[in-house]
Amino acid sequence: MNTLYLVTRLAATLLAGATMIGSGASAQTTTPSTVDARADVIVRQLTPEERVRLVHGIMALPFGPKAPPLPPEAILGAGYIAGVPRLGVPALTETDAGLGVAYIMGLRHDGATALPSGLATASTWDTDIAYQGGAMIGQEAWRKGFDVLLAGGVDLARDPRNGRNFEYLGEDPLLAGLLDGAAVQGIQAQHVVATVKHYAVNDQETGRQIMNAVIGDAAARESDLLAFQIAIETGHPGSIMCAYNRVNGVYACENDPLLNKVLKQDWKYPGWVMSDWGAVHSLSAALKGLDQESGSQLDSQVFFDKPLAAAAERDPAYRARLADMDHRIIRSLIEVGVLDHPAAKTPIDFAADAKVAERAEDEGIVLLKNRGDLLPLLASATRIAVIGGHADVGVISGGGSSQVAPPGGPAMTVHIGGEGQMAMMRSIMYMPSSPLQAIKARAGGAEVHFDDGMYPSAAADLARRSDVAILFVTKWQLEGYDAPDLSLPDGQDQLVEAVTGANPHTIVVLETGNPVLMPWLDQAGAVLEAWYPGSRGGDAIADVLFGVVNPSGRLPITFPASLSQLPRPNLPGWGLPETQAFDVDYNTEGANVGYRWYAEKVLKTLFPFGFGLSFTHFSPSDLKVRGGATVTASFNLTNTGSRPGVDVAQLYLTDTPSGAHERLLGWSRIKLDPGETRRVTITADPRLLANWDVAAHTWRIAGGRYGVAIGASAADLQLSGTADLTPGLP
Ligand code: BGC
Repeated sequence: MNTLYLVTRLAATLLAGATMIGSGASAQTTTPSTVDARADVIVRQLTPEERVRLVHGIMALPFGPKAPPLPPEAILGAGYIAGVPRLGVPALTETDAGLGVAYIMGLRHDGATALPSGLATASTWDTDIAYQGGAMIGQEAWRKGFDVLLAGGVDLARDPRNGRNFEYLGEDPLLAGLLDGAAVQGIQAQHVVATVKHYAVNDQETGRQIMNAVIGDAAARESDLLAFQIAIETGHPGSIMCAYNRVNGVYACENDPLLNKVLKQDWKYPGWVMSDWGAVHSLSAALKGLDQESGSQLDSQVFFDKPLAAAAERDPAYRARLADMDHRIIRSLIEVGVLDHPAAKTPIDFAADAKVAERAEDEGIVLLKNRGDLLPLLASATRIAVIGGHADVGVISGGGSSQVAPPGGPAMTVHIGGEGQMAMMRSIMYMPSSPLQAIKARAGGAEVHFDDGMYPSAAADLARRSDVAILFVTKWQLEGYDAPDLSLPDGQDQLVEAVTGANPHTIVVLETGNPVLMPWLDQAGAVLEAWYPGSRGGDAIADVLFGVVNPSGRLPITFPASLSQLPRPNLPGWGLPETQAFDVDYNTEGANVGYRWYAEKVLKTLFPFGFGLSFTHFSPSDLKVRGGATVTASFNLTNTGSRPGVDVAQLYLTDTPSGAHERLLGWSRIKLDPGETRRVTITADPRLLANWDVAAHTWRIAGGRYGVAIGASAADLQLSGTADLTPGLP
């Protein structure tokens, strides 16, 4: 160990004081000022070569275009950035993603625990579930030797066909932002840097590398950017990943308004901005706010290596930026604890981690229909048919860079192939958690028979001979590809028609990455949305079917009744050559994403945002609303049914001084025993009552009378009240 290294470590330790903590507590190891001072000590000692070394990295895969050789300390994963060991700065080993440590197309065989999809976690409306999920995957990443987990996707679901919605957290900026922030906290408490992504307005996959998202400043601030803002201020992510697409004509990774102005100036974000893989188009991106070039072999050239070194040599603006880039990276590594608690390959308790995934799915399953209390299944059901969805094998998962495979590998992989940039990722994987086995294990003495659903007539025949039919249907989605429409693929709608026609006691279990249409809904006895259920999905689904778990999930995304209800019924760019750029006009709905659009257009959707049934019933009463600088609502909530259950009581804005306007202001997730009543208080984040004033560059609340309501969903407002707000800036 050389002397300089020791001196640096000593100085750093003195500056950091005695504030270091072990894993599991807050990731904040030192106060911001000592973090910055400690980072400065290191940055000052970097040689010119080391300065650029930290700001560009490769894709850590042994193949692909221009694949550089992998250094010995690199780990197979998404990325690798060489470190400066003499100053205690480790190489950055980066892995995807938000649902667990990724599998990278079969290159890793060590297995990881798969959380259910982001939409399942969002359906819990539970920041503790998001935190625990983050902590679990963060710890697995750390124990596999990774110091950066590319987790934290928070792009809003503007289109229910988006192939990556399953990685994200739905259509509302408050819900998505708070859950993302909690997940980031969980990850970073393990001393692994999280990466809130993809900044910004990366809301469809069609043309993802070239499409231009057009959106006004106020609309963006009140929707997509607000989700990022809330995630960043609650989660304090060490890094942000800028997106592939253009925003208002400029690539997101060289977008001065987004990176320098909004993120770094207005939000005072102190961490680093890394590019998405292959998203850098110029050296000047450094001046526009990009701090690190990731997966650089995918770019047309490595901009942040020699070209940046040369620019820093001759141009003070680049020199200053390079020092700032290094500072931002190192300060995040210090703050998250990567320098003091380096990742170490250690054994993983997969059994314990599977329970975390199962709990998330328990709470994330949404009961959409339950005619005549068909669920939970009673002991009187002595002949149970289980049909379709490969339920004998496992549960489906979403594809792309976030794909996780459990220890031992997937239960089944179906290679689809096809065209497009991500064609090599087109393999459907099933997690080895069989719903059929889980149902059999809970069915007592009942006979359980399985039909694969290949032939609707055979499936209907089995359903007819059974007391109940549990019918699994799947819709696979993956990064890089949007769905062309909202239908179930592979003729599964006909299967549901046939089975529900044969037996009205049919429970349809959806394993989908997005909302789907349900032309057969009237015929179905019950419907569960299980999303992509994760490592222990089969057990979680069976627990809800048999009433071991009383469902409490609420939709974080609207299920429209038809494509014609969408702001853009035709998917922008669909069918265009992959290289042809196009605009997507998000000013159509502006900030009114999802339920706000349907409310504004007075459209009756299939299932509204916030909707979800329970095996018990809840009733709010005695609403009192207080105004002033923000709205505070308090009310009683009673479990009027006969089982313990969890309600998610939602507070919506309904009217403003300038007219009707719907918006989620907050919620309370609360467990109640039968007959129990509790008083609930919800205070709104004042930004949700404000508008972004573009001219004054600030939030502004118009003074006057506001209407609010307590709802069981965005379309089921049960109690209403008013509050007078004082004009001003939140
Ligand atoms: C994805 C990112 C991912 C990166 C590294 C990109 O294609 O958009 O979400 O983190 O690859 O695998």
